[in-house]
Amino acid sequence: MTGAGSGIGAAIARGLAAEGANAVLADLDGTAAERVASTIRSDGGSALAVRVDVTDRAAVIAGLERAVDRFGRLDAWFNNAGMNAPMPFLDVTAENFERIMRVNAIGVLIGTQEAAKRFLQQGGGGKIVNTASIAGRTGFPSFAPYSASKAAVISLTQAAARDLAKHGITVNAFAPGVVATPLWKQLDADLAAMGAADAGFDSMAADILLGRPAQPEDIVPTALFLASSDSDYITGQVIAIEGGMILV
Ligand SMILES: NC(=O)c1ccc[n+]([C@@H]2O[C@H](COP(=O)([O-])OP(=O)(O)OC[C@H]3O[C@@H](n4cnc5c(N)ncnc54)[C@H](O)[C@@H]3O)[C@@H](O)[C@H]2O)c1
Repeated sequence: MTGAGSGIGAAIARGLAAEGANAVLADLDGTAAERVASTIRSDGGSALAVRVDVTDRAAVIAGLERAVDRFGRLDAWFNNAGMNAPMPFLDVTAENFERIMRVNAIGVLIGTQEAAKRFLQQGGGGKIVNTASIAGRTGFPSFAPYSASKAAVISLTQAAARDLAKHGITVNAFAPGVVATPLWKQLDADLAAMGAADAGFDSMAADILLGRPAQPEDIVPTALFLASSDSDYITGQVIAIEGGMILV
């Protein structure tokens, strides 16, 4: 599970451990990953924290090897790490675009490839679950590179599903809407500094049909479903978890 030191990834890791899985929490912030892993262990679960930068293939391979050394095999892989750095559309730079694409899209490509290679070494079968976003289904003016990166996650999910089905590997994604996580604290501060506070958490959450933004726990059941044998006949799909927002 990448990006497991915070927010949605931490909630899914807790959910996996509560179901009896050995959870491996990979994050750029190794201290945060260890903090979540130790709460899982003190609740009686099984968890290992590893510091991994998802943009660094060697680090991803090293993290995967530590996980397999500890727990014996890989059954499911979550590409969840992600970030945003908003800019007004006309000001977006190649540097900003590349930084976001590197983490959110190339990170998913690397993670999917390395997890799939491990699944093949184990004889096939396995589950890959990607964190997309409603921003991959529709563009937002201050989030152009982020939206492009999440559209890339959807495309990578479909391409990988087509390639890996013959090996019994399913590849799916879920697309959250507005989820109350630390990501939004930084995003709201950045948007306010840009003079675009009206594009922030409160205004995006205002029109959600179910009347509230998501909590990370709202994401967990679907994420676990996509990692379990209950979803064995589902591949290449993107399941929106957005409380009734953009409806596509
Ligand atoms: N919060 C939302 O409203 C929302 C909505 C849609 C999609 N998402 C997506 O959900 C995922 C999780 O977001 P969150 O809201 O929990 O954010 P978060 O900021 O709380 O957690 C993201 C985690 O990813 C880690 N990370 C960032 N770059 C990394 C890298 N290069 N390598 C490894 N780890 C890295 C961070 O250290 C952090 O622990 C992201 O992919 C995000 O784009 C979030």
